[in-house]
Amino acid sequence: MTEPPAPLHFSLLTLFPELLRPFTQEALLGRAVAAGLLKFDLHDLREHAGNRWRKVDDSPYGGGAGMVIRVDVVERALAALPVRPDEIILLTPAGTRFDQKMAEELAEKSHLALLCGRYEGFDARVEGLVTREVSVGDYVMMGGEAAAACIVEAVARLRRGVIGDEQSWRDDSYSSGLLDYPEYTRPAVWQGQGVPEVLQGGNHAAIVRWRRDRALERTLSRRPDLLPAAGLTPHDSAALLELGVDAGHLAALGAPPPPQVKAKRRTRRPEEPMQTPSVAVLTDKVPADRKVPAERAPTDSGEQ
Ligand code: ADE
Repeated sequence: MTEPPAPLHFSLLTLFPELLRPFTQEALLGRAVAAGLLKFDLHDLREHAGNRWRKVDDSPYGGGAGMVIRVDVVERALAALPVRPDEIILLTPAGTRFDQKMAEELAEKSHLALLCGRYEGFDARVEGLVTREVSVGDYVMMGGEAAAACIVEAVARLRRGVIGDEQSWRDDSYSSGLLDYPEYTRPAVWQGQGVPEVLQGGNHAAIVRWRRDRALERTLSRRPDLLPAAGLTPHDSAALLELGVDAGHLAALGAPPPPQVKAKRRTRRPEEPMQTPSVAVLTDKVPADRKVPAERAPTDSGEQ
């Protein structure tokens, strides 16, 4: 019998613990806490203000708008944690951009402290108290709580048992290096839009290939910057060529050459149709006589 993994412990330091509390108690996070897979504790920075007004900020040296959270308040809040976390992460729009790779790295740790700011941010000297400064994107929010929530979501789901099915995160957008392929469920036809036929047949290899091609198509149109690091295969190169990428672009992506097709040397007679492309059209209509498998009993995946 393998030992259950030790819980991943998050310490959340914030001026608004009540903003984050329900987030740590509901849905899959709440379940993972109950199952002993995750542990959260919330810390109110005001408890460490050091004055009876619970004032944690002051005006910036050099003038300017807004207030700055004092470094000594943060120091006391961190010193009050019963154990030193493996990582102390300051949430700031001026930080290193959070991504899936960082989420995977953080999911290997045992204890993460997330320090959420408000107002104009923290005194710059907090840099010496934290292990990294992280931004969740190139936009400025009113505080770090939503950013901390993003990090908790992205990291927690990578821990064994938190979302149940390991395959479901391996295939996800980013984990595979590509954006996720489109998914469909019932009804098979909705407002005239069908479900691609390949997904309704039982050809597993064709489904795998179709999904990979659609993931490539989405990534090409929405996030082409991801393609060079996506570990493209010769088959992917063939799919990208069919999607209109030219050979020069393919080489620039570092993609391998497409597989050599051993074509039978036979010329097409003029009345023969052209070979249908292997890339299926998303709006494929479902043939009226198509048998759709019986409705499944509703399941609760725990997610919206
Ligand atoms: N606080 C405000 N905006 C933020 C961002 N984009 N990332 C992290 N923390 C923040």
